[in-house]
This record gives sequence, C-alpha cells and structure tokens, in this order.
Amino acid sequence: MLNRRKFLQLSTLATPLLSFKNVLTNGKAPTKPIVVSTWNNGKEVNAEAWKILSNNGRALDAVEAGARYVEDTIDCCIGLGGYPDRDGIVTLDSCIMDENANCGSVGAIEQIKHPISVARKIMETTPHIMLVGDGAQQFALENGFEKQQQVLSDPAKKAYDNWLKKSEYKPEINIENKEAVEKSKKGNGPFAPQYFDDGRINHDTMGLVALDASGNMSGAVTTSGMAFKIHGRVGDSAIIGDGLFVDNEVGAATSSGMGEEVMRICGTHVVVEYMRQGYSPEVACKKAIERIIHRSEEKAKKVQVGFLALNNKGEYGAYAIQKGFVFAVKSNGEEKIYPAKYFYDLGVT
Ligand code: GLY
Repeated sequence: MLNRRKFLQLSTLATPLLSFKNVLTNGKAPTKPIVVSTWNNGKEVNAEAWKILSNNGRALDAVEAGARYVEDTIDCCIGLGGYPDRDGIVTLDSCIMDENANCGSVGAIEQIKHPISVARKIMETTPHIMLVGDGAQQFALENGFEKQQQVLSDPAKKAYDNWLKKSEYKPEINIENKEAVEKSKKGNGPFAPQYFDDGRINHDTMGLVALDASGNMSGAVTTSGMAFKIHGRVGDSAIIGDGLFVDNEVGAATSSGMGEEVMRICGTHVVVEYMRQGYSPEVACKKAIERIIHRSEEKAKKVQVGFLALNNKGEYGAYAIQKGFVFAVKSNGEEKIYPAKYFYDLGVT
C-alpha cells in the first residue's frame, strides 16, 4: 500500500497551491475553439477535428470526425485493424457525448468500421445509450452501416500469432519499451509505441474532447480494447463516466490505458467532478490517478492509466500513472504534443 500519511500530505499540500488559482495550463491563455486528444497521433486526429472547429462547427461533429479518422487509419488498437481478443476476433468499444449530456455507446461490436458513428446514431435516434455485441451490430446494419469481413491487419496477425505461442493471459499494460519512447520523444513515433509485437498483452485508445467556438463541449472515444482480452470483454471506452465524460458547465475528460482500473473509480466522471470543485484539469487528472494508486500501489505499478481533461474555459491538462502518456493539443495559437506528468518513472521506459 502507498504510505497513507505521505499520500495525504502530498495531496493536501498540493491542492491549495495548484487548484484554486486560475491555472493556465502550460502557460497558454485559455482559448476556444480547442481540441485535445490522447497519444501521438492525436496530432492528426486534432487536424481532422480542426477542419470543423475552425469553421465554427459543432464540437460533436469535430470529435466524431477525429475518431473516424483513427478508426480508418490505425493498425493496432483502434478500429478493425486492431488487435483481436484471445479467440482471434476484433471487437470494438466506442462512446460519444455532447454538450447536453446526450450520449451513445457501443461495446464489443464486430465487423463495423466506424463504431463511433454507430454510438452517435444510438444517441440521436434511440431512447437508449448503450448497445453491445450482436445487438449493436444488428442496429448498425439496420441503420445503413456495412458489415465488413474480418481480416486481421498485418500487425494484428503478427502479434496474435506470437501471443498464441504461449496464450498467456497476463496483462502488462502500456509498459513502454525503449525504442518506442525514443520515437515518441521525436514526436512522430508509431501511434502505439506501447505495443509489443511479440504478443505481450498491451493496448491503447483514442480519446478526444473539444470546446467549440460557441462554448459547447463534446467528446469521443474509440478502441479495439485490450489485446487478447476474453471474448465479450468491454472496457472503459464504451462506458460513459469511465472512458469519457462531458459536462458543459464544467469540462470534459477522457482516459486511456487499463480500462478495468478506470472503471473501478468511474474515472472520467471523477475527473470532471474534481474540476467542478475548482481544480485545474491537470490536478483533477492527478487526483483521479492518485485514487487508483491509493487502492493498491503494487497493482498500480504494473499498469498504465492516463487521464486527459479540458475545462470549459479551454484550459487542459493530463496525468498518468506511468511515464510515457502523451497528448496532442490544437487551438488557434497552438499545435503541439505534450508528455503528461506521471506518478511513477519505474525505469521501464
Ligand atoms: N482503455 C481501453 C480499454 O481498456 O479497453
């Protein structure tokens, strides 16, 4: 266990200094429109979203466009090119939420290219929020989405074949390797540097949240989830309040990493509630990370979780359990990838 006294001291000392001032993240003045996304290729994701935001478009359309972009282009951890579950089947999780608390999600959907758009369709045309598995696919087909034949992408096939050699179900989440970190330092590494192609379990997620010129916020998340998961497993990325939460009166947050750890604390809801209390986005993310670590330091050291938040003033921030989580920002004055602050540098990178 984390030394409780030390933990509480750290938290209480940091709070008044960092949270109740009007913190301008990374020294930039708050601005709108703005979009922030997880990981290196958040840069390209943001560029897609920016086409809409910079034309006075709605944040909801922008985040959907960003998510669709990665669903089309990434071969590891998002969309149909993602790593399969332990039965060799690619299943996708996704959710979306707008400025009015409208939300939609799909869990473990198969053979549909754009789960984010299915999630939006559920949000806009049904009385429900979440559809899963066969029911989600059936809904998608009834609503004009095409069924794609499952063909594993080359990286997914290679990783799965390697994994099958041992079929060891031992999550080792987002423990980045040296080569990947070197590449990501240059800002142009492979999208998922945290992936090993030797079959060790790893995964990642694209989450983005945006504030549009009208002052409205939305967010979207999309992923193929944890590689080699048990068939039917649904992670945080399909759950409103875990992988994504938006409250237009406060801000929005998204998560990446080990979904189960996010789900145990309703992670992004917690981040937004901390922002409601007056904490800056970065401190709100840090406090949510501390909650995960506080439960079990031993367990937390073995996993990665990163939170990324944007408040309705355009201030942003992130925090992760481990070194290695990065996020991308795009606004009128800025286009940049930042390393998130972190709790542990265990030398695994
Ligand atoms: N954060 C994505 C997942 O755990 O599936």
